[in-house]
Amino acid sequence: MYLQRRNRILRQSPALRAMVAETIVLPEHLIAPLFIDEGEGIITEIASMPGYYRRSLDGTVKEVKELWQKGIKSVLLFIKCKDEWKDNTGREAWNENGLMQRSIKAIKDAVPGMLVMTDVALDPYSSYGHDGIVENGQIVNDPTVEALVKMSISHAKAGADFVAPSDMMDGRIGAIRKGLEENGFVNTGIMAYSAKYASCFYGPFRDALDSAPGFGDKKTYQMNYANRIEAINETLKDIEEGADIVMVKPALSYLDIIREVKNQVTVPVSAYNISGEYAMIKAAAKMGWIDEDKAILETLTSIRRAGADLVATYFVHDFVRIIGA
Ligand code: PBG
Repeated sequence: MYLQRRNRILRQSPALRAMVAETIVLPEHLIAPLFIDEGEGIITEIASMPGYYRRSLDGTVKEVKELWQKGIKSVLLFIKCKDEWKDNTGREAWNENGLMQRSIKAIKDAVPGMLVMTDVALDPYSSYGHDGIVENGQIVNDPTVEALVKMSISHAKAGADFVAPSDMMDGRIGAIRKGLEENGFVNTGIMAYSAKYASCFYGPFRDALDSAPGFGDKKTYQMNYANRIEAINETLKDIEEGADIVMVKPALSYLDIIREVKNQVTVPVSAYNISGEYAMIKAAAKMGWIDEDKAILETLTSIRRAGADLVATYFVHDFVRIIGA
């Protein structure tokens, strides 16, 4: 058989395949989410996220040092708020001595080079487990945005490099940018969860922070997973309002959205390889049904290939071990 062109030539050996690989994943592309608890010496494995832990601040600082040594350059902080401090205003969220604010300072003190990003949304602080303030069974937009601005400023004041609003309220990026500017935080970045879908795959995360909604669901603020064009609208609006990095979340069922967003914007795009995506791989691997390490590499590479510059993922330690960095 005569063939003018044989595509398999470039796939013949590991060296060739590596040489022509279009996508690579490096530790610096990854963002490590961290779950932080009150107390000391506390480390709790999250039942639905085997191999992933919630730690008190002392253990978190050690963890951050280890991540830094392994080449991970950014962490995304989430805290677990005590029940008695939860209410419908979310005010613990901007307590200057709150767990989030203390954590930001402690991490920046211990590892100044580590980029510290913080989740901005009221759900861990809300007695209703919603991302915003509740009035008559509704999650009210504008009062929530005011709260998110206070929260963001308090994170910036504590030394956060980036605030990451994950609440999906309208107009919050513009309001947060204005708040940061007016308070002199001109170097604080905003990573906007721009296209965040109402997803069942957040389940394990809500176990980790005990933040499941007490009533209803999040469909009046998070997006309908049937929609694609709406993701572009949301993302372009956030960029116009001042977002430095935009995010698509979840990642795996939304690889098309990541690509669509990547093709339309000129800011870095991130994607969140979320808790349920982690749990699925861990569970199937435990059953012996898939090869865990291969599944992790394929997953992270596919998210980067779809167009994500950055990937928030619970697989950071696994990834570094697998690539032997
Ligand atoms: C809260 C928030 C959630 C996640 C990140 N920030 C959960 C939610 O919106 O209910 C999910 C992360 C994950 O599942 O890994 N605003």
